[in-house]
Amino acid sequence: MRVLLGVTGGIAAYKVALVVRRLKEDGHSVRVVPTEASLHFVGRATWEALTGEPARSGTFENVPSVEHVRLGQRADIVLVAPATADFLASMASGEARDLLGNALLATSAPVMVAPAMHTEMWHHPATAANVATLAARGIHVIEPASGRLTGVDSGPGRLPEPEALVAALYAVAHNAQIDVTVGSGADHGWADLGGVRIVISAGGTREPIDAVRFLGNRSSGHQGFALAEAARERGADVTIVAANVSLPSGEGIARIDVETSAQLADAMRSAAVHAHVVIMAAAVADYRPAQTHATKIKKHGTGHTLELVETEDILASLVDSKHPAQIVVGFAAETGDDAGGVLDYGRAKALRKGADLLVVNAVGEGVGFGDVPTSATILDAAGGTVAHIEASKWALAHAVLDQVLARLPL
Ligand code: CTP
Repeated sequence: MRVLLGVTGGIAAYKVALVVRRLKEDGHSVRVVPTEASLHFVGRATWEALTGEPARSGTFENVPSVEHVRLGQRADIVLVAPATADFLASMASGEARDLLGNALLATSAPVMVAPAMHTEMWHHPATAANVATLAARGIHVIEPASGRLTGVDSGPGRLPEPEALVAALYAVAHNAQIDVTVGSGADHGWADLGGVRIVISAGGTREPIDAVRFLGNRSSGHQGFALAEAARERGADVTIVAANVSLPSGEGIARIDVETSAQLADAMRSAAVHAHVVIMAAAVADYRPAQTHATKIKKHGTGHTLELVETEDILASLVDSKHPAQIVVGFAAETGDDAGGVLDYGRAKALRKGADLLVVNAVGEGVGFGDVPTSATILDAAGGTVAHIEASKWALAHAVLDQVLARLPL
């Protein structure tokens, strides 16, 4: 199972290292989200080494992947240990002041808190009221143990021992019918695209007319790059074929820059040979000039006619040459017209292109280009709707990858 472990700023944070270790030994996937304050007690490196996953604290540390939402959405169970009085207060009032606060608001998984603090703080009416609020919301509160606290104090407020925390976590998971079988984390880890090779085209092709001019389109490459980042974040081995994109590609993403549709076709064909998933998010020119002039065409005051020839339909040829288990995804940018709406054209295209998935979105003046919210419908090869998304390109990227994952052979 995927365990999200929130660590807040208490001295008992060190005990949680043993909780992580035990969960990892049992084969579960653990992501630690430490608050900034907790890093005074146990450093990020410890969590990252123990879990093999990034241990981020800030909402803005990995914005591209909408991590503040995804972490909460993807967790099977959440445990905050130790939970300080301050953190319980912020949780009770639904604050989202850091990554952990955001993740807690975004999760529908069972949430557990293990408060740890001085006895006076634990008994304070404010803390008691916050704990009661959380319990009334269905949050599982692990009662603090009694005993020696920091310094010479003694009384209720100690974080229970690691074994007790793990046992409580398993009990809640079991009641919630979450698979706690030893090793169940291997297949359902945070990196659910681990080992999957994905090739993505992005941007818009340019077909040269002469030495200085080209036929191009408005595609910015944002959607393809969002897909690449999201897939990388989910553990995939990503290659991006970028047609005239000025955006930087993220760390760990292999990048091939191309200009024309012919170069894009070649790059995609070679990269697709070893890929499990091929995504054509680039806007490819349908036509190119029949001839390209090596020098600048001069004007003669009589107008000029360009002869255009059709380019190769790269998506169609990738579908034709795909190997049986390969998933091919296309994008359809549609404006709709008098003869049909965006989705009518999308469905016809899904049937025509034969890709496993076709992401249909509306484009036009100021719509769908650049880093703007997007509205898209994901269709299967038969033209059936499998998802509809009205959100950012990052959320769409994850939705597309979710559909890809559902179709990948195990
Ligand atoms: N595509 C492609 N090669 C082309 C044109 C498009 O591989 N020469 C791919 C795009 O990358 C996209 C999908 O096909 O994944 C649909 O692109 P779109 O431009 O919407 O469709 P077209 O086939 O060009 O159809 P039309 O222009 O008639 O709408």
